[in-house]
Amino acid sequence: MNTLETQPVLETATEPIAPAAVPSPALDEYYSEAGPDYAAWSAAYNMHFGYFRWGANPFHREPMLERMNLEILDRLRIPAATPAHILDMGCGVGATLRSLAPRLPHATLTGITIVPWQIERATQLNQTARGAERIDTARIHLVQGDYEQTAFDSASFDAAYALESSCHAHGRDKALFLAEAHRLLRPGGRLVVADGFLRRDLALIGPQRALYRRLCECWVIETFAELSLFLHTLTSLNFTDIKVERAQLRVAPSTFHIPIVTAKFLLTDVVFGKRRMTRARWNNILAPVILPLLGAPLGPLEYCIVSATKGHA
Ligand SMILES: C[S@@+](CC[C@H](N)C(=O)[O-])C[C@H]1O[C@@H](n2cnc3c(N)ncnc32)[C@H](O)[C@@H]1O
Repeated sequence: MNTLETQPVLETATEPIAPAAVPSPALDEYYSEAGPDYAAWSAAYNMHFGYFRWGANPFHREPMLERMNLEILDRLRIPAATPAHILDMGCGVGATLRSLAPRLPHATLTGITIVPWQIERATQLNQTARGAERIDTARIHLVQGDYEQTAFDSASFDAAYALESSCHAHGRDKALFLAEAHRLLRPGGRLVVADGFLRRDLALIGPQRALYRRLCECWVIETFAELSLFLHTLTSLNFTDIKVERAQLRVAPSTFHIPIVTAKFLLTDVVFGKRRMTRARWNNILAPVILPLLGAPLGPLEYCIVSATKGHA
């Protein structure tokens, strides 16, 4: 019996299945203060980059952000009729969960985030979505906790994903994060991680090193994963069917929106805005400006989608 089945089903409620993990003050400050600003990037609160497919309009950002959710879903390989349990590791305010729920009408979707404000906001957004879009949000569970050390039972999920959230995990190999994902998945379960990865340490030279440190500071990231170490950890945990998709060109069209969104944001929220600009909010403006200077092909950071299957013992 898994943890989810032993809990009363609460409509889009936080499920306090263990003493809540405490986010680092910097992470809490960043996401609580800059979190509302993500509305300027995505009306649906997608806190990630978009995925461009040929035929899509690169000037329309929201469909590309939504497309990224669907790319994750494709790689989870969950048949729509399956009553699967799916875990979003670092769920933000639940945009991907709300996107997946209607496409997997028999699935139970659980999102975990360490930031309490996101649980509150995700709960509100789920309630609004239920009315407006008829999303059955009763199948979405929100849990405040640390994805490196959760209270869920072992092998209680059929699939798990981390969309631009694994970067916050410890170390260049993300070993704690991957070990927890491995513990939570049933044998044969799928893991999909979409994020920026360091291609190799040597690529960080001179000013890039300082820019990289500043980027990590802005987004409260200890370090991005180094791709080769990440893959080595997956292999040593007995994940199989490991696939790396280099998606830099897929996300690029959405990154081209950053200057326009930033300029608009500076006018509406900084010049004429009512909320006080804090360090965290400035960092959220600065980070996307630094990012292109570190991105592939010139820089060491490359956007990849890594998928894998938990091996049978
Ligand atoms: C950039 S946001 C991405 C959110 C979401 N995946 C999306 O695409 O909209 C990163 C997320 O990782 C979460 N996160 C960071 N460290 C975490 C941890 N140790 N445990 C759980 N969540 C964490 C943050 O709270 C945030 O929700």
